[in-house]
Amino acid sequence: MTVEYISLQPSGDKMPLIGFGCWKIDPNDGAETIYNAIKVGYRLIDSASNYKNEKAIGRGINMAIDEGIVKREDLFVTTKLWSTYHKKEHVRPALEKQLEELGLDYVDMFLVHFPLPLKHVPIEERYPPGWYQNNDEPVITLDRAPMHECWGAMEKLVEAGLTRNIGVSNFNVQLLMDMLTYANIKPSLLQVELHPYLQQEHLVNWVQSQGIAVTAYSSFGPTSFVSTGSKRAKSVEPLFENPTVKDIAAKYNRAPSQVALRWSLERNVAVVPKSLNVDRMKMNLEALNWKMDEEDVQAINQLDMGLRFNDPMVNAQKLPLFY
Ligand SMILES: NC(=O)c1ccc[n+]([C@@H]2O[C@H](COP(=O)([O-])OP(=O)(O)OC[C@H]3O[C@@H](n4cnc5c(N)ncnc54)[C@H](OP(=O)(O)O)[C@@H]3O)[C@@H](O)[C@H]2O)c1
Repeated sequence: MTVEYISLQPSGDKMPLIGFGCWKIDPNDGAETIYNAIKVGYRLIDSASNYKNEKAIGRGINMAIDEGIVKREDLFVTTKLWSTYHKKEHVRPALEKQLEELGLDYVDMFLVHFPLPLKHVPIEERYPPGWYQNNDEPVITLDRAPMHECWGAMEKLVEAGLTRNIGVSNFNVQLLMDMLTYANIKPSLLQVELHPYLQQEHLVNWVQSQGIAVTAYSSFGPTSFVSTGSKRAKSVEPLFENPTVKDIAAKYNRAPSQVALRWSLERNVAVVPKSLNVDRMKMNLEALNWKMDEEDVQAINQLDMGLRFNDPMVNAQKLPLFY
């Protein structure tokens, strides 16, 4: 039987296995996109301050609530702490600002977006501030903001009722092992780039063995990164053109995109595909409610290339975060 939710520790909250991703959604049509996503059945919205569209995302959520399509408690809203707010005194104001933009009283999941303490940029100076501290110069400046202090401030947000769960994104095993030595509330979730070309098997297995849920981002591999100008994404075979993926899709009379999502779900890894198109939104939701034979999971397991597309070293930032 297909599991449609993951039970999170320690809250016991049920997180939908499929959510809707909000990266690169234009603020001008963001509200309509999110409204449509909820209308076709998405119940998890994956947002972030750094996607620069949270006001629109919030309008879409509230339109759906106001029209009675869902109640707030039916939705699972995830958002992320941007890297310029890691100092303990900046964590709560950052989430309060995001809640104001989203038009919500609380979120269901608040993730530390990257293990990267960027120099603080005051909210009143520039919001959202992006990767660089100075608008004119693309230079990365770090802050003295240790993760154990940042995490302590994240835990206080749960106690204050501003988020129901806390977790991390783009963290590796070393960082998580360190966190588990001091966390009073251990991370409920790790969100990382995961797709057939970047499978991170040991990371996923170890994290799940700790009772920490895993969400895959960019499940379609290079697909999302062609539009960012990524040379890596343009030079590799598109995932949906891969013969193994296409053959498996044909076997089940499914689309290659559904095979990519189903492969994650078979590992009990949640997914958050993004689409601006209502038919593709629906198609992606239909990755639920079917099974892929073990031999097909194994065949996709052979496609791993360790190929990361969301890599700030090869992107403009030139930051070796994953090395
Ligand atoms: N934590 C992090 O650091 C991080 C980083 C990256 C992403 N994320 C999260 O993960 C979400 C998903 O990742 P993503 O946005 O990078 O990419 P994705 O969901 O893997 O792929 C999106 C791309 O695939 C296309 N697409 C969607 N459904 C399709 C289908 N059924 N058939 C063919 N093409 C399809 C979309 O185009 P159309 O819109 O035209 O359909 C878009 O170009 C993000 O939106 C964000 O919420 C998190």
